[in-house]
Parts: sequence; structure tokens; C-alpha cells
Amino acid sequence: MTDQFPGPKTRQALERGVPLFRNGLRFDEELEKAGRRGFRTANQIVIDHVEGDFIWDLDGRRYIDFQNGWATNPIGNAHPEILEVVDAAHRRYGFHYDHPLRYDLAEMLAQIMPNKALPRFNYEVSGTEAAEAAVHLALTHTKRRYIITFSSAYHGMGLGTKQLNGLDGEMTRYLEAWTGGVIKAPYPYSDQSPAGMSQEQYVDYCLWYLDNHIPGCIAPRNNIAGILVEPGLAEGGNWIPPTNLLKGIREICDKNDWLMISDEVLTGLGRTGKMWGIEHYDVIPDILVVGKNLSGGIVPCAGIASKDEILGDTDGFLSGSTFAGTPAGCAAGIKTLEIYERDKVVEHAAKLGELAAEAMRQWEQYDIVRQVRGNGLLLGVSFESPDPAEKNWWYARSVRNRMLNHGVWAISDREDTIRMYPALNMDEKTLLKGLDIMHEAIRYVNEHGQVEGDSPAWPTGVAGF
Ligand SMILES: Cc1ncc(COP(=O)(O)O)c(C=O)c1O
Repeated sequence: MTDQFPGPKTRQALERGVPLFRNGLRFDEELEKAGRRGFRTANQIVIDHVEGDFIWDLDGRRYIDFQNGWATNPIGNAHPEILEVVDAAHRRYGFHYDHPLRYDLAEMLAQIMPNKALPRFNYEVSGTEAAEAAVHLALTHTKRRYIITFSSAYHGMGLGTKQLNGLDGEMTRYLEAWTGGVIKAPYPYSDQSPAGMSQEQYVDYCLWYLDNHIPGCIAPRNNIAGILVEPGLAEGGNWIPPTNLLKGIREICDKNDWLMISDEVLTGLGRTGKMWGIEHYDVIPDILVVGKNLSGGIVPCAGIASKDEILGDTDGFLSGSTFAGTPAGCAAGIKTLEIYERDKVVEHAAKLGELAAEAMRQWEQYDIVRQVRGNGLLLGVSFESPDPAEKNWWYARSVRNRMLNHGVWAISDREDTIRMYPALNMDEKTLLKGLDIMHEAIRYVNEHGQVEGDSPAWPTGVAGF
């Protein structure tokens, strides 16, 4: 164990990435830049081993895991029962497409879909592919050209999904020739409304934009295939949508004969304390996108669920991927759902969500905290600089640095938010301990300012990540 952070072994490993990985050539420049600001990179941990709610880095430091493999380990790290079935599936089936587990898992998923209304399933490898398949399905089913998505949305990193994302214009630079067919709509953020609008007015405006501005000014009503929405804008900052937004979207889709697609890659399978995020809003989508948690934290498994009349007879070329619905991926999904039922994992997540909300409410007393928010275990805190000359995200990064120094790993990527994704079955004490450490980090940065100053700077966004 070492006091230096990142410790020498971790640092050495990160430096090994310099000649190997993306942006290694920017290493010196980024190091200098980060040093000036006093930050360290978003990616500074190289994992030595994991167990349950904890990870250890190469230098032997232990962290409470709020990062959760980017919200992909629903029942903790390397769950032994998942490992066992994955190993058994590998030994029994090797890799082949035509194995019985894909039927078993699809039957289980049909049973847990909202209102059992989406009985058909189409396997994909990743959330990215699944989101793209959902859009392709909607376009081919409706024989229309346009899809509506939202600001701050994140649907993946394929050529198609990069167009659907609403995160950063830079993501589609040089991809301008590929951008046809996606219409971006404003999302009503809960912590800031334009022009002095109330939250309700902002939501009304966003719904008005969908139903009036887009058909009036951007694309003909009858050439729009549907609206793609996350019931919790996850990567974009863990924004929790108000009920009337999702209900309004459903009504607009019904009225216009558009399809509603719920991207539940991150919110799905218990993350929000219900099986599906959309269930908080009492609406049923036409297509639901699944990923992440279905892997049981071990082997990728993703796909889309939809209605008979949409997915039962489609001209869409959906999954063509060799590795869609692998035996091991399906085995992991099946065992994950069995454990959910046996251990009442979703109910546990809902209870943890309440505890987290109670703990986090106290943080709004700090000047640098703009908002705390959560739905189940989809948890976020956005930060704001008390000084307009300084950037908000510097504060988020500083708090996260201090959390790392004190043994909690959470996500603060390129945003002014810290996002936390504890495992759904995390032990109560571990959750509260992690939140306590985070509280202390917020208090410290609130008092001392954005630069932590007590530990060496480390570059951002370089050497392999
Ligand atoms: C809502 C949503 N959709 C799609 C994706 C892409 O999934 P993957 O990274 O598995 O391709 C993500 C990933 O974070 C996501 O949060």
C-alpha cells in the first residue's frame, strides 16, 4: 500500500499505455495541462482484482465500487454463480449461434417486460448495437425516415449511435455525411430552465417542441418513425425525467402514430429500483433496448424487445453479429434473472435508493452542489463553481479526486456531474460508507476550493482510455 496516488505500479501501467493506445502522443501536453489545473485523469485505476462491492488497484488500494464497470455489474463484481454458469456454457457449447439458452433467456425476458407487452426479443452484442437495431426496426416498420432523440442522450459509440447522441457536437465532427435522419429535441433538465421558466413550463415547452416545432419546421409528421428516449438520461448526467415528460411522449407518439423506443441499456434491469426505468412513468414503449446488466457483469448480452406486430414480421436487418446471444452471454443473463428473483435484488435496490436519497439530501447545503438527484440507484450530483470565472466541471473532478484518494470510485467523465452506480445488491453499510466518504470530499472541496493540492497531478484522457 502506498500513500502516493496513483501509486507507482498503477502509474507505471498507465505509462505503458503511452506508446500503445489512443492519445498517448498527447501525454506530455496533457500532463502539463492537468498539473496546472491540479487534476488527475478520469482514468487512473488499473485493477488488480475485484470482489463483490470492492475493487483493488495494482498498488493494493481498495475502493468501494460506485463505478460498477460503467453500470454493468448488477450483483457486484465477479459474482461466483455467474462465473460458474458462464464457465459451464463455454465448456458445453463453445461458441455457436444455435444453442437452447437463447430460447430460455428470451422466454424469461418476455415474462418481465413491462405489462408483458413486449414478448419478442432480438439478441445483439452491445448496447450500441441494440440501440441501432431499435432505430432500424422503427424505420423499417413505419417505412419512415426520421428519429427524434434528445440533448444529453447517450446511445452508444457506433457510427449510427454517435448521430443519436446529444452529448457533444465534437463527437460527430467529420461524420457530417452520415447525419441524415436524426432530429435532436431539447431535454428538460431538472436543475436549470431557460428564460426563467418553471420546471412545468420547461417540460411543456419540450413536449410542444416535439409535437409542433419538429413537424412544423423540421420534418413532415408522417415521415417521423418515432422518439428514442432514456427513462433516465444516464451517461448524459443521470437526469431523472419528470413523469409528465414520458407520459407526454407516449401521448404524442400515439397521436402521431410514432413509435416510442425506451433505451434501457443503463436504466433497465433494476437500476432505478424497478425492473425497467419506464415503469416509474406508467407507460409502455413499443420497443425496449436492453444491455449492460443482462451480462451479469461477466459476458456481454444485449438486445431489443418489442411487440408481435413490430418484431414478429420485419424487413429490418437486425442482429447480424456473430456474437449476438452467445451461449455464455445467455447463461449469464439467465442466472442474473434467477438471482434477481431469489434474492429480491430489485426490491433491495429500491431500498438502497431511499437510503442514498436521504444521505445525499444533506449535500445541497454546500455552495458547490447545484443539485443531487436519484431514481433508485441511478444517482448523480451536479456541481457549480461559486466563481463564474471557473468551470463547473473542475469542482466535480476535484471531488472525485478526493473520493479516489479516500477509497471510493465513481464516474466523472467530461461533465460537471459525478455519477454513482452501486451494485443493486450492495451491502447497506458499504453504500453508506461510500456516501459518507463522498460527503466528506464535497465538504472539503467546498471549503478549500477546486484544487486539491495535496497530491500529484496526473493527466486527463491519455494513455489508453
Ligand atoms: C442508454 C445507453 N444506451 C446505449 C449504451 C451503449 O451501450 P454499450 O456501451 O454496451 O455499447 C449505453 C452505454 O452506456 C447507454 O447508457
